[in-house]
Amino acid sequence: MFDPQHIRSQFPIFNQTLSKGRPVIFLDSGASAQKPNVVIDAESDVYRHYYANAYRGVYEFGAKVDEALEASRESVRSLINAESTDEIIFTSGTTMSLNLVAHCFTKTFVKPGDVILISEMEHHANIVPWQIAANEREAKVEFIPITNEGLLDLEAMDQLLDERVKIVSLTGMSNMLGTINDLAVLSRMAKSVGAAFLVDAAQSVPHQRIDVQSLGIDFLAFSGHKLYGPSGIGVLYGRRELLDVMPPFLGGGHMIDRVYKDHSEWAHLPAKYEAGTIPIAQAIALKPAIDFVLSSGLENISKYEHELTVYAYERLSELTGMTIYGPSPDQRGPILSFRMQGAHPEDMAQLLNRKGVFVRHGHHCTMPLHDRLGIPNSVRASLGIYNLRTDIDALIEGLKYVRERLRLTA
Ligand code: ALA
Repeated sequence: MFDPQHIRSQFPIFNQTLSKGRPVIFLDSGASAQKPNVVIDAESDVYRHYYANAYRGVYEFGAKVDEALEASRESVRSLINAESTDEIIFTSGTTMSLNLVAHCFTKTFVKPGDVILISEMEHHANIVPWQIAANEREAKVEFIPITNEGLLDLEAMDQLLDERVKIVSLTGMSNMLGTINDLAVLSRMAKSVGAAFLVDAAQSVPHQRIDVQSLGIDFLAFSGHKLYGPSGIGVLYGRRELLDVMPPFLGGGHMIDRVYKDHSEWAHLPAKYEAGTIPIAQAIALKPAIDFVLSSGLENISKYEHELTVYAYERLSELTGMTIYGPSPDQRGPILSFRMQGAHPEDMAQLLNRKGVFVRHGHHCTMPLHDRLGIPNSVRASLGIYNLRTDIDALIEGLKYVRERLRLTA
C-alpha cells in the first residue's frame, strides 16, 4: 500500500522544524529533490567502506566499486527498459547528457541547411546546446509553438516536419507548465520524416514510467538529483546503433581502447562516452534511489501526485488575482507555475519563505517560454513523492499572508 506518511518519514530532512517550530514545506522538487536515508547511507557507505576509482583496480575495493556501478547501471536500464546496459551512459546530469548528444549527433548526422526541431516549452538545457551545435553545422533550430492551453501545437509541428529535420528534441514534462507530452505520438511524428527522437526526461522520470523501446525513443536524458538520488550524476540513454557511429564527446582516460602518438581508438560502449573518472559514489547511490521509486511503484506515485496536483490546482484557483500557467491537471505533472496580480514573484517567494514554504521564482531556465506567455517570471511550486495535502494547505495560507503583507485587496 502507498503510504505518503511512511514515505515522508524516510527523508531525514523533514525530521526538523524551522524557526517558530514551523515544519519544512518543500515545494521545489522540480529544481532538486530531497534524499531518502537509503540514498544518503549508500553514498556514505562507499566512502566509509570501499571507495576506490572505477574500472581501474583489480584489488578488492576496486572490484567492489565496479560491481556496484554495474548494478546501478542495470537498475537504470531496467527503469527505462533499455535493451542493454551498453546504452546507459553515466554523465554529470541532464545538461551534460543533452550537450553530449547535441555535439556528437550533429557532427555525424547534421549538415548545412538541416533542422533541429525543439519547442517553445524547452528548458535552456534543451535549447542552448542545439543553438551552439547548429551554429557550428550551419543548421537551423526551429521551435514547435505551444497552444494557449500550454500544450505542444501538433498541427504546427506537422507543418514543420520534413526531411530536413534530423532530430526532434522535446521535454517529456515541462519544468514550468507541468505539461506532459505524449511521447508515443511525438516519436511517431519524428520517425515519419526519419528524424531521431530525444526526450529530456529530467522532470518526467521521477513521476511516470518511461519505456524507451516501446515509445521509440532514441535518446533520453535525466538527472539523479531530481529522482531522489545524489547530485552530480546523470544518465544518457542512447540507442546503440546511434552511439556506435557517433564520435566521442570528451577525450581522456577510460574512453579509449588504444592510444598511439598520432591517433586513438575508442573503447566499446558505454566507456566510449565516459572519459575520466565518473562520479563514483553518486553513480552507486543512484541505484537505491531508483529502487526506492520502483518499490513505491511508479503508477502509485503518478496517481498520488496527480491527486495532490488536482487539489493544489483547485485551491490555487480559488485565490483572488491568481493566474496558473499551463494545462488542466489531467494533462500535467505535479508542477504549478503561477503569478498573483500585484505581487512580484521574488517578493512572493521571500514572504512564503517566512512561513517555511519553499518555492522557486524567476524564469525557471525557460526564457523563451516566459516570452511566449508574455511574462518575465513566475512562482513555481513543484511536488515530490513526500509532499502531503497539508503542504498545499500551507502554500495557500502562505499566499494569503502574501496578499495581506502586500495589502492586495482587489
Ligand atoms: N531544471 C531545474 C528546474 O527546473 C533546475 O528548476
